[in-house]
Amino acid sequence: MSLTQEIENLIKEAEAAVIASKSDEELDQNKNNFIGKKGKLTSVLKGLASLSVEEKKTTGKLANEAQVKIESFVEAQRKKIKEEFYEVKLKNEFFDSLKSLPPLERGTLHPISQIQYEIEDIFTSMGFSIMDGPEVETDENNFGALNFTEDHPARDMQDTFYTKDGNLLRTHTSAIQVRALRNLKPPFRIIAPGRVFRYEEVDASHENTFYQVEGMVVGEGISIAHLIYTMETLLSRIFRREVKTRLRPGYFPFVEPGFELDINCLVCEGKGCSVCKQSGWLELLPCGLVHPNVLEHAKLDSKKWSGFAFGLGLDRLVMMRYGINDIRYFQSGNLRFLNQF
Ligand code: DAH
Repeated sequence: MSLTQEIENLIKEAEAAVIASKSDEELDQNKNNFIGKKGKLTSVLKGLASLSVEEKKTTGKLANEAQVKIESFVEAQRKKIKEEFYEVKLKNEFFDSLKSLPPLERGTLHPISQIQYEIEDIFTSMGFSIMDGPEVETDENNFGALNFTEDHPARDMQDTFYTKDGNLLRTHTSAIQVRALRNLKPPFRIIAPGRVFRYEEVDASHENTFYQVEGMVVGEGISIAHLIYTMETLLSRIFRREVKTRLRPGYFPFVEPGFELDINCLVCEGKGCSVCKQSGWLELLPCGLVHPNVLEHAKLDSKKWSGFAFGLGLDRLVMMRYGINDIRYFQSGNLRFLNQF
């Protein structure tokens, strides 16, 4: 076999071996095998010595071409191996960002915030504005201006958190009606939602921190009829059905007359059940006509101006709505409780 023929065969053999290579290592080995220093091409070229000058030239050229060709087979195969490697990797490691994301956990509004916002909507639709006030109040705003006498038991250290400088944590949002009377010109209608504080032993139905909405309307000729109409509108919208009310006398220093407003029991529709202790009624909120002393204290002529006020406890309202039996859940931060709303 001529040297030329041998080289041609070597090229074919090398091509087949390179194409069959499955890894870089195998490729390197084959490369070495054919065109390495001690490779097959080198040994074939040992035969050059016996050739004529002319033959040496052409065969030498062919050998160079063989070297280049085999190198290009190797590089082409190297590229192919690499591509296949990434193709497999891509297929196996495909990241489906939509499929594999954990379910999105959203926070929800606290049920007390939810009912507060509902109440705000109901009242703004009736022409009320929303007022705010500070949680640390003066004794005057929380008690004095509301006709509490100096020795009224509600001022007692046992009910009220006092601060070192002689102020207090407001015990009710009624402190904001004092601010309304001082800052707004009648006629006006306001509600004032907020957090209030009492120095209480905490149990299933008592918290030291809870939420109220105070309401106040001041105008000329405001009467109990306005109060009842406003309360029935509010309650029917909150409970999403017609709600009947009744007033019983109740005492609060800043209203005269003062009332406890009851609603017909929503569980038994007033027939009598264990929830309403067979009475057919549930005590819901205190209210009354603004005491003349409170108006006069704010320098309003109580002969000209009159008004009504009410205080709505949000915690109890939410408890009634959802059948929650322990007020302590609200401040617990317990996500298993909160995620239900
Ligand atoms: N501030 C009272 C309380 O927290 C509730 C209250 C009673 C508010 C009668 C009123 C009202 O506006 O007229 O116990």
